[in-house]
Amino acid sequence: MKRYKIAVIPGDGTGPEVIREGLKVLEAASEKFNFSYEKVIYDLGAERYLKTGEVLPESVLKELAGFDAIYLGAIGDPRVKPGILEKGILLKLRFHFDQYINLRPVVLYDARFCPLKDKKEEDIDFVVVRENTEGLYCGTGGFLKKDTSDEVAIQESINTYKGVERVVRFAFEYARKRNKKKKVTLCGKTNVLTYAFDLWERVFYKVGKEYSDIEKDYTHVDATCMWMVKNPQIFDVIVTDNMFGDIITDLGAIIQGGMGIAAGANINPEGISMFEPIGGSAPKYTGKNVINPLAAICALSLMLDFLGEKEASLQVEEAVKRVVREKLKSLSAGKMGYTTQEVGDLVVKML
Ligand code: IPM
Ligand code: MN
Repeated sequence: MKRYKIAVIPGDGTGPEVIREGLKVLEAASEKFNFSYEKVIYDLGAERYLKTGEVLPESVLKELAGFDAIYLGAIGDPRVKPGILEKGILLKLRFHFDQYINLRPVVLYDARFCPLKDKKEEDIDFVVVRENTEGLYCGTGGFLKKDTSDEVAIQESINTYKGVERVVRFAFEYARKRNKKKKVTLCGKTNVLTYAFDLWERVFYKVGKEYSDIEKDYTHVDATCMWMVKNPQIFDVIVTDNMFGDIITDLGAIIQGGMGIAAGANINPEGISMFEPIGGSAPKYTGKNVINPLAAICALSLMLDFLGEKEASLQVEEAVKRVVREKLKSLSAGKMGYTTQEVGDLVVKML
């Protein structure tokens, strides 16, 4: 029997509540699909930081290296200055483990929950491959003359040939494996960011030559937003840099029904990957048993797929789809017609 070592970081706000439901589904899946796992919970997040001043100790980073995957709830708390936990935990983990792919599926399970007019389920089915270790998120830059009226703030976008090449290649491989529209769209801003996206564009078409079976397309990021609303059916795989990927995946989340259902995978194909709902810690719903756990359960499905438990992954996704279609009144917190725990139970039952 296969055995996996999973590190669990429930994190802040509603993170622990949604992760609890995800773990319920993991337990059910392990019984049904005959695999076993060992989980270790890490208490990273605001509570630990406020109590001890620790964000992400070196010793924890070392331990995490011994796991097959990391399952994360959410990071961020209104009591802590923005950036400390987000950069210190979430981005730190992505960078440290070189999780250079941020894979974010945008799938509409039920047209009732789509805010766009006249869109059907088959119109919204694509994935965003967000570069996850470079761009504007590296943290390079600085201040000059800080706290004076002559202050200058510089934040640089780092784009390396190797960094761009590996994410572009992943996107082409993924489009092939997905075997749907077989198309990769590069989302950039070649008309203004004439250094960064010049590199991206050259690499995209160079690597693309090796994928003659895959259609190539390019859209500027602003137009990408417009097309995602007007004609989302044109997309299959979108590849883009860190910041544009961050922005367009929130738009992606809302057209698939909201943050309650949007999941992501931070992947290092040769290393340790991390799976998370992308909605954040939603502090105002904390402890109320009203948050939608399906995004966390979809993240679990992504993790199962990555671990090689393909059938379990598919069946978990299928169970989520049925719960969405047959049971829920809404995908939003407090309006589902069920509590957080009941939604988790429904998925387990469907499975
Ligand atoms: C996301 C989040 C993070 C990001 C923040 C919390 C650092 O917005 O996962 O999309 O910008 O990547
Ligand atoms: Mn984001």
